[in-house]
Formats: sequence, structure tokens, C-alpha cells
Amino acid sequence: MSNLNTQRNDYKRVPCDQSKTKKYKHMKKIVLLGYMGSGKSTIGLKLSKKMGLKFIDLDDFIAEKEKLSISAIFDQKGEAHFRTLEKDYLKEVLKIKEDCVIALGGGTPTIEGAFELLHEYAITFYLKASKEALSENLKPKRAKRPILSKLDDAMLLDFVELHLNQRMEYYEKADFKILTDDKKNKEIVKEIKLKLTM
Ligand code: S3P
Repeated sequence: MSNLNTQRNDYKRVPCDQSKTKKYKHMKKIVLLGYMGSGKSTIGLKLSKKMGLKFIDLDDFIAEKEKLSISAIFDQKGEAHFRTLEKDYLKEVLKIKEDCVIALGGGTPTIEGAFELLHEYAITFYLKASKEALSENLKPKRAKRPILSKLDDAMLLDFVELHLNQRMEYYEKADFKILTDDKKNKEIVKEIKLKLTM
């Protein structure tokens, strides 16, 4: 069952496992992507500890550099400005010399040109969760996410469904897809590590 749950994503440019493994041999960065609430930061931190690598959360990196929270950037400068910053800082973290694990923001893969950069510098994992699991995870964590902060419980599931569908084509470009529903963090980390050592 667990083998079926860890599906290889048949991304066109990288047609088989062998080339992915080859790619990893020279790989400097492991990138986790997926919708808000999919566990990118939690899993990323755990994975980095297991692998003895530095961990970078792109949102935290942006907030630190700009000396403003993500919500404050959205409020004061608008989403378009945030996306410009997000792309610039994505480039910066991907070019750091050290190997590391990076958790993206939920919208990072949808920025024009982001996937070209990701495929050049990183091996990418999509943490794929159902809309039900995402909206449950997000219920207590809406406040610091400007896109969700004004939604009430009743609106959240419908919003997540629609928004996730709009973003799916980008997320699905990841090198690997890990289904996360009903799995413990430990299992998810193990699955990612297995993919990396294949
Ligand atoms: C966003 C996701 C957030 C953050 C910002 C926008 C998005 O990151 O970058 O609030 O557009 O999905 P998380 O996915 O870490 O919550």
C-alpha cells in the first residue's frame, strides 16, 4: 500500500527514475512544495535534521530579509510585490552554495519562470494532500496567511478546492509526488529519503 502511495511523477523532461537518480547525484537542493497547510515547513525541518542539512523556509527567509511579516508585506505592498520578492529570494536561496532543504510558499511554483529555476537547481517534491486534510490543517492557522485570513470555516473547504485546482498543474510538475493524507510525519520523511537514495 505504501508503495502505491508514493507515486513517481512522470515529468516529461525527466523520463525515468535512473535520470532522476543521476540528477540527484549532482543535486544541491531538496525543495518541498505544495498547497498551504501541506506540511512543507514541518517536514522540511525534520528531513533536514535527518539528512544533516541546513533548512530554509522561503517565507521566513523573505520576512527576515524584508524585516516584515508575510502578512505585513501583503497589507502594505500588495500581493504582486510579494510575488516579485518571492521570485528574487527563490533565486537567491537556490544559488546558495551549501546543500540544503528548502520549503517553498504555497504560491511559489505558480510564479512565472519559477519551475525553470527549480528544475535547474533542485530536486522537487510535491507534498500532495486532499482538500479536506488541507482545510482541517489550515483552520487554526489562517491568521498568518493573508489569502485565507478573511475566510470563515464554512468557506474554507470550497476556497481550498477551487484554489488547489487552479494550482495543481504547477504542483504536478514536481519531480516526485508524495501523498500525505493519513501519514505520520516520520513516514513522509522516510518516503522522501527513499526517493533520494533510489
Ligand atoms: C501563499 C502561501 C504562504 C505564503 C503566502 C502566500 C500562497 O506560504 O507564501 O501567504 O499563495 O499559497 P505557506 O504555503 O507556507 O503557508
